[in-house]
Amino acid sequence: VETPIHIPVLLEEVLHHLNPRPGAVYVDATVNGGGHTGALLDASAPQGKVIGIDRDADLIAALTRRRFDDVAAGRLLLRHASFSHLAEILADAGIGPVDGVLFDLGLSSHHLDRSGRGFSFSENEPLDMRFDPADPSSVSASEVIAETPLPELVDIFHRYGEERYASRIARTVIARRRNQPIESTRALLSAVEQSLPAKVRWRASRNAARIFQALRIAANRELAEIERALPQAFDALRPGGRLVVISFHSLEDRMVKLFFREQKQLGTAKLLAKKPIQPSDEEVRINPRAGSAKLRALEKLRQPGETTMEEVRR
Ligand SMILES: C[S@@+](CC[C@H](N)C(=O)[O-])C[C@H]1O[C@@H](n2cnc3c(N)ncnc32)[C@H](O)[C@@H]1O
Repeated sequence: VETPIHIPVLLEEVLHHLNPRPGAVYVDATVNGGGHTGALLDASAPQGKVIGIDRDADLIAALTRRRFDDVAAGRLLLRHASFSHLAEILADAGIGPVDGVLFDLGLSSHHLDRSGRGFSFSENEPLDMRFDPADPSSVSASEVIAETPLPELVDIFHRYGEERYASRIARTVIARRRNQPIESTRALLSAVEQSLPAKVRWRASRNAARIFQALRIAANRELAEIERALPQAFDALRPGGRLVVISFHSLEDRMVKLFFREQKQLGTAKLLAKKPIQPSDEEVRINPRAGSAKLRALEKLRQPGETTMEEVRR
């Protein structure tokens, strides 16, 4: 199956903040269909490099075919892995400090429309929702539902989904799973619908979207992966290198905000924008998925723990 092209979010703003130059080296930690990577390869031509990472093996295989010339020329290195292994990936590839790292978090059009792994409820599909179902340590969304005790399930729906009926939905799910495992998108959608007060049931798809998002974040342990990856990305930058993160969830953005603030306070980085950058109305009209995007960017000044000249003089 051809992977549908995912429209890159905030492309101009990403390029503005990474400021790619000929010969420079970039990491695209969430390469997907290569929307941002294609632009980085163009801007860093003829010698520049991009190391593209994705946790989804199908996407890495499809992109290897599509950009075979760049791969063969050694300008595009593609790796199937989680970005939480960033340091190891760069060390194995013998890549030294890089000029920029990009994270464009979350899921893509491919996952929603083509993967068949139950990321959306528009079709009846197995409830898997893993970016990397082959990872032996991973847990599918249906396993999360089968094995999570009530209080934790409420917490997942509440925190990751920001769902006001979290508790009612979790109780229905638990009651139903006793009789029959919830293993399809339709079974989960029906549990969500049945949990809602009758007067709001007509708009159950909004609640379902939040519950699906929550389970995806839990199944992929998305917040923990980001928390592990950010310091590695910062470490990988040369002084003057840039880190750009696009997030789609308030908990993700909060984590990025706190990490960036910490670097600023340590004097190891400067923020390139005080407030997160959001897409224009025009971009959201063309690409509604961009709606919740927030971009933050920093420039590294020095490695943490390195003494500055100013401190030497004191
Ligand atoms: C929003 S898409 C990126 C789109 C890409 N920037 C473009 O415009 O073509 C996010 C990608 O991140 C991948 N992903 C999610 N979690 C990941 C992780 N922990 N490590 C590596 N890739 C991950 C997903 O598989 C997905 O392909």
